[in-house]
Amino acid sequence: MTLVCRFAILPCMCGIVGYIGPRDITSVLLVGLERLSYRGYDSSGIAVITDGELGCWKKEGKIHELSEEIKSLTIKGNVGIGHTRWATHGVPNTINAHPHLDTGSSIAVVHNGIIENYLSLKKKIKAAGYIMRSQTDSEVIVHLIDMYYKGDLAQAVRMAMTELEGSFGLSVICENEPDKIVVCRKDSPLILGLGKGENFVSSDINAIVTHTRDMVFLEDGHMAIVTQDDVTLTDFEGKAVEMKVEQVTWNAEASEKSGFDHFMLKEIHEQPTVVRRIIDKHVSVDGALQFNHLEEAMKDLTKSMRFIIQACGTSWHAGLIGKYLWEEYAHVPTEVDISSEFRYRQMLSGSDEFVVAISQSGETADTLACIREAKSKFFKILSFVNVKGSSIDRESDAVVYTHSGPEIGVASTKNYIAQLLNVYLFGLYLGQLKGHLSKADVIKKVAQVKRLPGQLEKILDQAPTFKAIAEKYYKSREFIFIGRGLNYPTALEGALKLKEISYIHATGYPAGELKHGPIALIDEKLPVVCLAPNSVTYEKMISNIEEVRARGGRIIIVATEGNEAVKDLAEDVIYIPECDEEFSPILSVVPLQLLSYYIAIMLECDVDQPRNLAKSVTVE
Ligand code: M6R
Repeated sequence: MTLVCRFAILPCMCGIVGYIGPRDITSVLLVGLERLSYRGYDSSGIAVITDGELGCWKKEGKIHELSEEIKSLTIKGNVGIGHTRWATHGVPNTINAHPHLDTGSSIAVVHNGIIENYLSLKKKIKAAGYIMRSQTDSEVIVHLIDMYYKGDLAQAVRMAMTELEGSFGLSVICENEPDKIVVCRKDSPLILGLGKGENFVSSDINAIVTHTRDMVFLEDGHMAIVTQDDVTLTDFEGKAVEMKVEQVTWNAEASEKSGFDHFMLKEIHEQPTVVRRIIDKHVSVDGALQFNHLEEAMKDLTKSMRFIIQACGTSWHAGLIGKYLWEEYAHVPTEVDISSEFRYRQMLSGSDEFVVAISQSGETADTLACIREAKSKFFKILSFVNVKGSSIDRESDAVVYTHSGPEIGVASTKNYIAQLLNVYLFGLYLGQLKGHLSKADVIKKVAQVKRLPGQLEKILDQAPTFKAIAEKYYKSREFIFIGRGLNYPTALEGALKLKEISYIHATGYPAGELKHGPIALIDEKLPVVCLAPNSVTYEKMISNIEEVRARGGRIIIVATEGNEAVKDLAEDVIYIPECDEEFSPILSVVPLQLLSYYIAIMLECDVDQPRNLAKSVTVE
């Protein structure tokens, strides 16, 4: 077997914010960090230059711990940086939290990413007499900058960068030069927000979108000197680079809870709106489909002989459904792989083949590494991405935006529905272009799609029923989810939602596989969630449910409205509105999202920020 050499991209899953200007500095930094906390939430810190002196405050735990710590202090100043961390190197504690300071406490650095050669750099700086305080890879950066500092911060950062291997989004301030923040980017997102008499830095739009919509997305290899009134953008050698200012359209309220107890609950309830928005984007008044910005790529896509979808987590589940649909609608053989597996396999490319990335964040390290590797093997890249300007967006040949708006809850909900719908519509469009579907077929399917928002609302109205079901089962320590065909991925998604937010062990199986092993788990205590909407495999599904029943499992069935027969088989039945089988995954997942949500609440879990997780998994 040939071993394939891969990229090593290992940025850390953290959040950076920076501000220079006249506003209350702690409030800008802390609110920014709060809005970034879904990216990492095990410790945080800020550094501010106050009356020419650098001050730094850090705390283990969530952002509110840091806010509590400093609320009685008066921290004045007009330049500062902040960081929220998801630990990679070194346990989550106050010492390992960012910012990291040089020995003389005059330079502060916040870092997203991983410095791969930090051990050799550590040796070097120790030999030069520096003492490392933390166990992190990031701390070496500040000492290197200090080593090179001769009165010009930007130059010292530039020199330090030549020694760094790995990935970094960096923001640096220095008390000798209190009029600037120096930032640079390699394989870890960094954004500048432009204001009047003030400027912002962040790793994510969310932290600063309340202050400005004029943003500059730094490219890899770019660095910027940010002052109150100006931004100088260069490459790492200091050569000027043209600055592209983009207007961000995401509205700031989209990142607020808007009266809901949790982002996850709000995002579940936004699903009908998301579906309407996607219909507006892709369906013309006469019911035909349009993918305007794909026009160029469509020539190649229509010729495509094979798709290889690769994605992680919930996005992978959307990919599994994509396979069914694209093979059905467009007759294109489609493979689906988990990115972290695909990237270490031999990628054999033929001509006219596309690697497809599906990603909410557009920053997932494994998915990104796969598209880079696939490009080097001459595959074309099509991506389904939610976050515009993200690395996967920028590095793909063609992109379908999923248009779910900002998703803050770590558990993906509305973006899953958005991914599914985009995958459906793209499949229909391709099927029509390839001549496997007529215009009339497409218009008929689109008419079904237009019913989805109302049907989703009907399901959401049943939330009290799902809550009552959650009440019955929330003490179970294990769940099984089963489904067939298009609803096998729904079973996987239901199990993933439950385990990630409630810490209950849950597994999804294709129902037909049960008797090949997992059926041994069934006893009278085990809840088995059975996805049995009307479908071509409905009868088979019922046989599988009978097998569970015969072994005493506690059965919860998701079925199509009007199916009274299932009531005799189940302890609880959840109904979804009648629809063609192919659209059922868009409806059947919603009760499972709510079931997981209520169970997690009853178990007093942190649904928006579950333990050990982060929203964008930017480490391998
Ligand atoms: O941003 P991406 O869609 O690439 O993220 C992929 C997974 O990390 C993500 O779906 C994860 O599984 C979610 N926590 C699921 O709710």
